[in-house]
Amino acid sequence: MENNNRWLEYWNGDVSVYVSPRHLEAHYKGLFADITPLLPKPPFTLLDYGCGDALMAPDIASRGGRVLLYDRAAARRATLRNRFAGQPAIEILDDLKAAEGACDLALMISVIQYVPKAELPALLRSLKALLKPDGLLVIGDILSPDNSMVGDVSALLRFGMKEGFLADAMKGLVKTLRSDYRKMRGELGLSSYSISDIIGVLTECGFQAQPLTKNIGHAHHRRSVTARLK
Ligand SMILES: C[S@@+](CC[C@H](N)C(=O)[O-])C[C@H]1O[C@@H](n2cnc3c(N)ncnc32)[C@H](O)[C@@H]1O
Repeated sequence: MENNNRWLEYWNGDVSVYVSPRHLEAHYKGLFADITPLLPKPPFTLLDYGCGDALMAPDIASRGGRVLLYDRAAARRATLRNRFAGQPAIEILDDLKAAEGACDLALMISVIQYVPKAELPALLRSLKALLKPDGLLVIGDILSPDNSMVGDVSALLRFGMKEGFLADAMKGLVKTLRSDYRKMRGELGLSSYSISDIIGVLTECGFQAQPLTKNIGHAHHRRSVTARLK
């Protein structure tokens, strides 16, 4: 719990994992492309849990989705309220009551690494209560125990080269190496799961899960799984 609170304090602050606005935009453009094949037929309700900057929300809404955004970091929610003011298909939630039993799709991308392992089952059970009976949960960007920061660095450089922000990526890496993120990653660690570990936890929590062949997000060494209610 204490670790989670420290990560949340970090996410409440001025986040430095994105090296430039171009990186942030390319990140969400890539996420939208990766989740598009998973979008249900419209009209649908999608929850983005731990949504961060949520730059893909308008694209999801344009596909006929009601988009519910939730992030435990209050500062993120305040930013999102300003960003999406006047867009009625995008709702920013302070708690998850409005999402109960309402979601065709729940995304949790690049979040579980910041959740202590002991807290994951309770979180998964709470997400279960938000899904419709045939709803789908997508957990993306899962770190495996054999991943290292070296894998993340090379993935970022490849992404920067492909998307035209390589120079910013290199500068950003130097900044990250000196940053709170790296210090906290060293001190608090990140929760990591092999595919069989995460499927095991999901099964215990009442889901039927399967891995996706390709990760959601630019980091091809990380993994994603989908899960439905048993
Ligand atoms: C790496 S960002 C991912 C943002 C977005 N999902 C994406 O893929 O770009 C991690 C986000 O998870 C949020 N977060 C961390 N722990 C959380 C928790 N226990 N519940 C909800 N959100 C959490 C942070 O506030 C942050 O916005």
